[in-house]
Amino acid sequence: MKGTRPGSRPIGVFDSGMGGLTVFRELISRLPGEDIIYLGDTARVPYGTRTPETVIRYSFQNSSFLVKKGIKALVVACNTASAVAIDDLKSRLSVPVIGVIEPGARAAARMSAGGKVGIIGTEATINSGSYQRTMREIMPDADIVSKPCPLFVPLVEEGWTSGKITLSVIREYLNTMKRRKVDTLVLGCTHYPLLKEAISEYMGDDTVLIDSAVEVAKEVRKQLRASGLLREGKKKGKYAFFVTDSVDKFRVIGGMFLGRPISNIEHVDIA
Ligand code: DGL
Repeated sequence: MKGTRPGSRPIGVFDSGMGGLTVFRELISRLPGEDIIYLGDTARVPYGTRTPETVIRYSFQNSSFLVKKGIKALVVACNTASAVAIDDLKSRLSVPVIGVIEPGARAAARMSAGGKVGIIGTEATINSGSYQRTMREIMPDADIVSKPCPLFVPLVEEGWTSGKITLSVIREYLNTMKRRKVDTLVLGCTHYPLLKEAISEYMGDDTVLIDSAVEVAKEVRKQLRASGLLREGKKKGKYAFFVTDSVDKFRVIGGMFLGRPISNIEHVDIA
């Protein structure tokens, strides 16, 4: 998929596993003409419980694999990797790097009527303070409530996106947000868009949910257009998937994230 003109080269996307397919899904709907190479580091997922040093090392290995494929831009679909590694990646890679934190925070600032913003994500994302810092830079007066929600990832991977158990975990994690009447809640993890309905049911109509997958896709489109790298026209993009663990598992569970069957998946060893 190596094109000759810069604009015809593929976009590279990486995530710790399959969750980044929620970002991929938004990318293909907003940029249908783009070729995309997706790398899921399924052998080393989850990143959300690891130290920043480990996540940074993994992120560089993933990026270097994609850069070698001749990508024109890199999308860090993983919130955890974006939270801890984005500055290092931006300063050391030769292609534009787009993470999920800034687009999500900017959307929250735009949508928040009263400045009460909730942020949820993995432990590593929330503990890094990255969303909170970015949010404060954009909206200095924001009243921010943040909370790691580690059980959301396994629940989604089990396909438990609704039902009694899921709702009771949601209640346990989000009751403070609800009590403090956050008007905007950032879903700061690749898996959380799949819980959107259940979270919205609990939080109620007065809380706007920010899906960082949607926001990053809009940002990628904007940046590619601004730099003359956007590929438009009738030709549909081609997709290639690489995983560091089971191809079969990615096909089955990944299909659930994407909402449609996945093909063209290859195993790769990048460590
Ligand atoms: N992709 C991760 C994120 O968005 C969630 C899964 C993990 O912990 O690796 O933070």
